[in-house]
Amino acid sequence: ENKGKIVPTRDLILTDEQIEGVRRSGVVNTGVLDEVARQIHPGMNTQEIDDICMQYCKDHNAIPACLNYEGFPKSVCTSINEVVCHGIPKESDVLEEGDIVNVDFTTIVDGYYADASRMFIIGEKTTPEKEQLVRVAKECLEIGMEAAKPYGFVGDIGHAIKKHCKKYHYGIVTDLCGHGVGLKFHEEPEVLHDAYRGTGMLLVPGMVFTIEPMINMGSPKGFIDEDDEYGWEVITEDELPSAQWEHTLVMTEHGVEILSY
Ligand code: MF3
Ligand code: CO
Ligand code: CO
Repeated sequence: ENKGKIVPTRDLILTDEQIEGVRRSGVVNTGVLDEVARQIHPGMNTQEIDDICMQYCKDHNAIPACLNYEGFPKSVCTSINEVVCHGIPKESDVLEEGDIVNVDFTTIVDGYYADASRMFIIGEKTTPEKEQLVRVAKECLEIGMEAAKPYGFVGDIGHAIKKHCKKYHYGIVTDLCGHGVGLKFHEEPEVLHDAYRGTGMLLVPGMVFTIEPMINMGSPKGFIDEDDEYGWEVITEDELPSAQWEHTLVMTEHGVEILSY
């Protein structure tokens, strides 16, 4: 009956004051991504995106959580086309018309973490296939948010995402998942994007977590290049494109509220 069901410990339920702290961090995080949105363009390299994020943080008394996190060398993840996630900004990665790029940023403001990512289509347009992938990945986040109900289970989220994804025969990445956030960068619960209804942790008002589905056009599997000096960037095994959107959310008595706006 209770198989696979987990109850959150008290520390995973944030106080109103803590939630307001995460919300303030989320405002800065949104500011970072909005600034990237204003400036991103064909011909730009991803190191320039890192520079924009660093400058915005400096101006808003925020710390970029990714910088030096477990050896990650930059302040932001920039994942182009077949890069699933954790792409490292570099001058040699120049954005081209039609590329689809995920920019994933985590702010620390007064010790509170907010984590969000968006997709950007570079230039005027991309292929209809990539456009659909970007759209469906966003729908997966939205459908996941709707499926997250107070006193429901984390697995309800992945169940809803899987149902939507199946219609398109896309691959849902299972090697990485959403996570508790707010007081730490990565915390319980694990938010699987491919799961069974009624499994995982009970969702209680005050819990703060991300949903961040990574949706692949083809195979759900990924790999890390052996020659990658940092060993962070995840690439799809068939090198077909991947898309991801992420929000930091707080559970309330009425459903989730987005803190990364
Ligand atoms: N922001 C990512 C997440 O959504 C984590 C990036 S860790 C890094 O959880 F080190 F690669 F930056
Ligand atoms: Co993130
Ligand atoms: Co995250």
